Amino acid sequence: MKGVILAGGLGSRLFPLTYATNKHLLPIYDQPMVFYPILTLVRAGIKEVLVITGGPYAGDFIRVLKNGKELGLEHLEFAYQEKEGGIAEALSLAEDFADGGPITVILGDNTTDVDISKFVSEFHHGAMVFLKKVPDPQRYGVPVLSDNKIIRVEEKPKKPKSDYAVTGLYIYDDRVFEIIKTLKPSARGEMEITDVNNAYIKMGELQWREFKGFWTDAGKFETLFQASAYWARKKGIKV
Ligand code: DAU
Repeated sequence: MKGVILAGGLGSRLFPLTYATNKHLLPIYDQPMVFYPILTLVRAGIKEVLVITGGPYAGDFIRVLKNGKELGLEHLEFAYQEKEGGIAEALSLAEDFADGGPITVILGDNTTDVDISKFVSEFHHGAMVFLKKVPDPQRYGVPVLSDNKIIRVEEKPKKPKSDYAVTGLYIYDDRVFEIIKTLKPSARGEMEITDVNNAYIKMGELQWREFKGFWTDAGKFETLFQASAYWARKKGIKV
């Protein structure tokens, strides 16, 4: 299995912190944000990783990640997303890297202590998403569940139909790239990962698992702070 980290976008929710650097290079306690999703992949035995980034500070990633060896990677590649066209658009740049195989995808601002090794090794085909119970589901992709199956995912619904978030970790087979080619931009002008997941639901091939451990994205001040506090406490710091 290969891994893909999506670290494009402008990080505008974190202005002014992101005026002069890419969001994913900001610190979460003692490490740059992007280290966390990379280390989640490394813990799951994924050593070949593509980082997709964009914007004016893309070059800084090379200085921070170098060739990935210090993080335990055997092979690290970069790709550049020319516009902030959405998560699914960024993922389309991974087609050559995936080379016909399955991929584990993590959004660059997601941090978790969940060990995903088992999910990675049990994956065969289709797609797998990971749900986490949250107090504010309207901020996320939210699954509509029936008979323990996801029948639809709604992106940032005003009235969420469950109290789960679809986290920014996904496993896809190689059909994901054909699906992305069929997508149209959403009302917010982005190619949505939620539309990719809905396409797998239509084919009857979306599986899900629930995260019991810590998970958050760190894309706004509050969650950036909470993520830092969590990882600091884990290292014995009183916060
Ligand atoms: O964190 C989980 C949530 O992430 C999911 O529940 C949602 O379904 C999903 O749409 C996404 O929502 P956000 O609104 O939080 O996504 P955001 O625009 O903040 O982008 C998340 C990451 O994706 C960002 O850290 C970098 C990457 N990204 C995003 C865009 C828009 C790209 O690489 N390129 C892009 O064009």
